[in-house]
Amino acid sequence: MGEAAKADRKVCVVTGSSSGIGAATARRYAQEGWNVVVNYSRDPVPAEAVAEQCRARGAEVLVVKADISSDDDCRRLAAEVQARFGRADALVNNAGTTKFVAMRNLDGLDAQDFHDIYAVNVVGTFQMIRALVPLLKLHPVTGIVNISSVASLMGRGSSIAYMASKGGLNAMTVGLARALGPEIRVNAIAPGLVETPWLQQGLGAERYAASVQGYKAVSALADVIQPEDVADAAWWLGAGAAKTTGEILLLDAGLRITRGE
Ligand SMILES: NC(=O)c1ccc[n+]([C@@H]2O[C@H](COP(=O)([O-])OP(=O)(O)OC[C@H]3O[C@@H](n4cnc5c(N)ncnc54)[C@H](OP(=O)(O)O)[C@@H]3O)[C@@H](O)[C@H]2O)c1
Repeated sequence: MGEAAKADRKVCVVTGSSSGIGAATARRYAQEGWNVVVNYSRDPVPAEAVAEQCRARGAEVLVVKADISSDDDCRRLAAEVQARFGRADALVNNAGTTKFVAMRNLDGLDAQDFHDIYAVNVVGTFQMIRALVPLLKLHPVTGIVNISSVASLMGRGSSIAYMASKGGLNAMTVGLARALGPEIRVNAIAPGLVETPWLQQGLGAERYAASVQGYKAVSALADVIQPEDVADAAWWLGAGAAKTTGEILLLDAGLRITRGE
């Protein structure tokens, strides 16, 4: 492809895209002919590997180290996107954090835990959206996709603080969909158990295997979710879905409705 044609490519920013759902989403947009921005906050090695996978799919890739809980980092990320591509056509807010604390263990969470989790999942997502809105408004209609969780809707997940933060993210999704239309659509995806390092590291091998088995035993589709399944939805909601905004899409392989007789 010539340089001029490459400059016409649309651009997707995916936060937390050095691993799991974010990495699959970056690869998906690259596969669809978009340029992508790969973001991480700690380890550059997996981020560079994902960037290479996107380049192999034909994309130009900008890799940015930025912690979304820092407003300065979010504004710097947006400035780097502006300088490199001069546009942004989709933003997938995937970066998130949690603390694994059993639901009944109320003393296992303190106020600081709530603040730390909200700082990324709610405030960080807001900061990233606010920083990128001027670029997203350049070529409407553009799409924002927030990665929420079934935890926000079903009262089960890694901790009470995490599910509360994702509930806040859902509410923010609807509010921002109203505030940012008609130029920008804002939606969320609430995935069930997705096979990524997140749960494997958080639960440990034994509890993780039991969770996967338990999930498959209950869900209507007798399965868990793959990062590529979420990337499918993030592609549709970010780049298509012309008449959908303010929606929270449950992507749970039928966990909520459970298996019937
Ligand atoms: N896995 C599941 O079962 C599941 C289910 C429902 C929802 N989700 C949601 O899906 C999202 C991604 O989860 P995942 O399973 O794909 O996790 P993952 O494989 O652990 O990946 C997390 C990614 O986020 C980055 N990150 C973490 N904190 C960040 C920050 N403050 N700023 C920028 N980047 C940051 C990580 O890179 P660095 O460590 O280098 O920063 C990494 O690239 C999260 O929002 C999570 O709540 C996951």
